[in-house]
Amino acid sequence: MSTKQILDKYVTYFENKGHKHIDNAPLVPLNDPSTLFTSSGMQPLIPYLLGEKHPLGERLVNAQNCFRSVDIDEVGDNRHTTFFRMLGNWSLGSYFKKEQLPWLFDFLIDPKEGLGLDPTRLYITVFEGYKEIPKDTESIAIWQSLFQNVGLSANEGERIFAYGVDKNWWSRSGTPEQMPVNEPGGPDTEVFFDFLDPTIHENSQFKNQKCHVNCDCGRYLEIGNSVFMQYRKSTNNTFVQLPKSNVDFGGGLERFLLATQDISDMFLTSLFSPIITSIEKSTNKKYEGNERPMRIIADHLRSACYIAAFGIVPSNSEQGYILRRLIRRSIDNFHTLSGTDLAPIITSIIEVNSKTDQILIEKSEQISLTIIEEANRYRNALKNAKLIIDKELAKQTRSGDEILGEHRTISAELAFKSLASYGISPSQLKSLGYDFNEQELAEKIKEHQAISRKGNEKKFKGGLADTSEKTIHGHTATHLLHQALRDVLDNSVHQSGSNITSERIRFDFSYDKKITDQQLLEVENIVNGKIKEDLPVHFEIIPTKQAYEIGAIGLFMDTYGDKSKIYFIGPKKGTKAKPYSIEFCGGPHVNFTGELKSFKIIKQESLGLKQRRIYAVVE
Ligand code: ALA
Repeated sequence: MSTKQILDKYVTYFENKGHKHIDNAPLVPLNDPSTLFTSSGMQPLIPYLLGEKHPLGERLVNAQNCFRSVDIDEVGDNRHTTFFRMLGNWSLGSYFKKEQLPWLFDFLIDPKEGLGLDPTRLYITVFEGYKEIPKDTESIAIWQSLFQNVGLSANEGERIFAYGVDKNWWSRSGTPEQMPVNEPGGPDTEVFFDFLDPTIHENSQFKNQKCHVNCDCGRYLEIGNSVFMQYRKSTNNTFVQLPKSNVDFGGGLERFLLATQDISDMFLTSLFSPIITSIEKSTNKKYEGNERPMRIIADHLRSACYIAAFGIVPSNSEQGYILRRLIRRSIDNFHTLSGTDLAPIITSIIEVNSKTDQILIEKSEQISLTIIEEANRYRNALKNAKLIIDKELAKQTRSGDEILGEHRTISAELAFKSLASYGISPSQLKSLGYDFNEQELAEKIKEHQAISRKGNEKKFKGGLADTSEKTIHGHTATHLLHQALRDVLDNSVHQSGSNITSERIRFDFSYDKKITDQQLLEVENIVNGKIKEDLPVHFEIIPTKQAYEIGAIGLFMDTYGDKSKIYFIGPKKGTKAKPYSIEFCGGPHVNFTGELKSFKIIKQESLGLKQRRIYAVVE
């Protein structure tokens, strides 16, 4: 069965049960500033799950294109992808457990109307209860009778397993504690498919632990999740019943495909194998032995195609940042395999996926152009990075760095300097053919973080000479200057260093042309405008991934650890505008930009290697 056949069967099955087929909402939401991408089928339905009347009634079905950037680091195993299609059916108070579970089971096992999966291969998890919310014994009883009907015993602990809020509770934000007030959520019950192959576990990093349905080794694959969305978070971490008890089912189309083809590796199914073949051709390497980089290339470029189809272009903020990251990560992996031409891979992605997504054909030119242009831009940036490192290497002939033809071993010291001073990440170094001791580099980064933390405690962060009022004014002014340079010159301008004293600001950044007087004046005017607006300045400690998603800028690419301190300048209190500047930073800063009086640029210099320096004064 192909993905298209599975999709059609699913929609028809639920249409026959009175469901109306709703549109696949845009992957990049048009009217929802709170989120960058549609990441589940229920996302566009939130108002209806909270009680609004849906124009098409109380039973809905669709196939929703989804993108989850949180899964980006999981990609490389046999099943994780950042882009996927979620098959969904919803009851907006029309039916509940005793209809949902028999229909789902029937769809999964029926060979004519459904997927024809062997029921002996299916396992179930249910909610074990939490505080005042009871264990889902009703679902256990329904599942038991469904398995009994096909001659299988399904005792708890045998085929059905109960788990807590970490596994069997679903909301957009995670566990009950993590949910914001008013967010809908509820207990869920998940179906797993057993690939019946113990070697998957034995060959995985989990081999020393006992395998179970929720084991991350990949032997058991979660194929569908029925969420009983009946609660809304109230204040004081309590829950109230929603006006109606809803069902929110989501099943991964790609995962249904794996189960029907009984293949444990997503990248060997018909949906990915032509793409893998084209990567094999472009790199002149076999998939076997190169699974991880090839899976990353296939997944990331596929997601990039879908995102570019919506007119998103690579940039340093929001969706554009994610697109840039996807393309650059695929290029890094492509280079480690000595790949040459990306174009045939993009063509094969478009071809394979166009059967379900016509938009890829319609936008194929735009997609190719967006990806190839970014790839070229990135290759140029890497070439410059290589020049910088080779220059450093030449300087350090006594350092013990070994030069071995095309492959160079560099010291962890130099790898760290590349990252800290030039923003060249360890994976970029590898894609440029440099080897280094990763363990030693990790230790250096840790050491550095410990030092900056100490520095933070003393409030002498980054390039600040002291914490006098003037210096703190200068520090806030550099954040405004950084953003203003990006506004006037190019959104890819980024800071490469700074030194702030009570006399002046010195700010270094990437840019390869002389800045005209007119441009400097514009930058100055923007900064002075922001000072006049008297914008509030505050910081938040947030997950690093989230910081990137909201477009935070800063010196390092990926090395702030799990959480980061982010400074926001603006918006004005009571307005809904975006903050003017969002930056990774330890502080300190003023509380309002109006504490500064004025800002003036006094000179610019070239530092070579596409780096420039600006001196400015602030009152
Ligand atoms: N909304 C549920 C999920 O995304 C079905 O898993």
